[in-house]
Amino acid sequence: MVAETTLTPADFILPIFVDEGTNVEHEIPSMPGQYRRSLDLTIKEVKEIWSMGIKSVDIFIKCSDNLKDNTGKEAWNPDGLMQRTIKAIKDAVPEMVVMTDVALDPYSIYGHDGIVKDGEIANDETVEALVKMSISHAEAGVDIIAPSDMMDGRIAALRAGLEEHNFTKVGIMAYSAKYASCFYGPFRDALDSAPGFGDKKTYQMDYANRREAIKETLMDVEEGADIVMVKPAMAYLDIIREVKNAVDIPVSAYHVSGEYAMIKAAAKMGWLDENKAILESLTSIKRAGADLIATYFAKDAVRLLNGL
Ligand code: PBG
Repeated sequence: MVAETTLTPADFILPIFVDEGTNVEHEIPSMPGQYRRSLDLTIKEVKEIWSMGIKSVDIFIKCSDNLKDNTGKEAWNPDGLMQRTIKAIKDAVPEMVVMTDVALDPYSIYGHDGIVKDGEIANDETVEALVKMSISHAEAGVDIIAPSDMMDGRIAALRAGLEEHNFTKVGIMAYSAKYASCFYGPFRDALDSAPGFGDKKTYQMDYANRREAIKETLMDVEEGADIVMVKPAMAYLDIIREVKNAVDIPVSAYHVSGEYAMIKAAAKMGWLDENKAILESLTSIKRAGADLIATYFAKDAVRLLNGL
């Protein structure tokens, strides 16, 4: 009766990994219980999670190696795997809120979120590419684009690009305070997208910084974001709270692959009670200030909330 924080299925965004082929289901070794699925099996899964009360998915695709280059042009191929996935989900479950990851890393031969020039990330050229990518997602029917690239000025450019093409109803969930984190390791295994050289510290944030998170977030709000995000979540609960206090739009937090893997691994060893760890983690993230939580545990959490 006096609990201040409660979780509901509608709090969750389920990240899903999509691969080419039919009837394909690869379990991701560092994320047991998470799969890269072909489109047919993805649709089955999306129908199931909708029936459980989960209202949103965030799509990540595995790009074939032969389609990767340094321009990222497969990212705006109208018949690309991402575009086909958006259409198929909106056809199968029209009310599902479909979000898409906007960043070049799955498409980049270098595994970087942007175009590489002389060993550095070319910010402005990357932003132009991200605009083309986002418009192609909008044409395919996306509800909310989720730019995770951390280039400067991209929210304003994406908003202007969408408006110019009359996609006035497409929302933007900006990864605003995204830290350069080791906790993304398992995700990069899932998509084979680890950086080929260097790291992402020239565009993602230094985990030593707090004020910078607020500055980045306020810039994204100013530029037209509808939802802002803090990522990762558990090691950044202070940031979630500060962001929550600083903005008047919804705040999301991404409980990332490494946070998932830690709980799974400890539970497998018998060192942690997995179900309790899931609920404590997600409740803490919400208590810190997250209105929405992107988490690979979305299905488990709903099952637990239903007492199953
Ligand atoms: C791509 C992207 C990453 C994640 C979400 N979008 C990886 C990265 O920035 O290297 C990580 C998600 C996770 O670890 O669960 N820009």
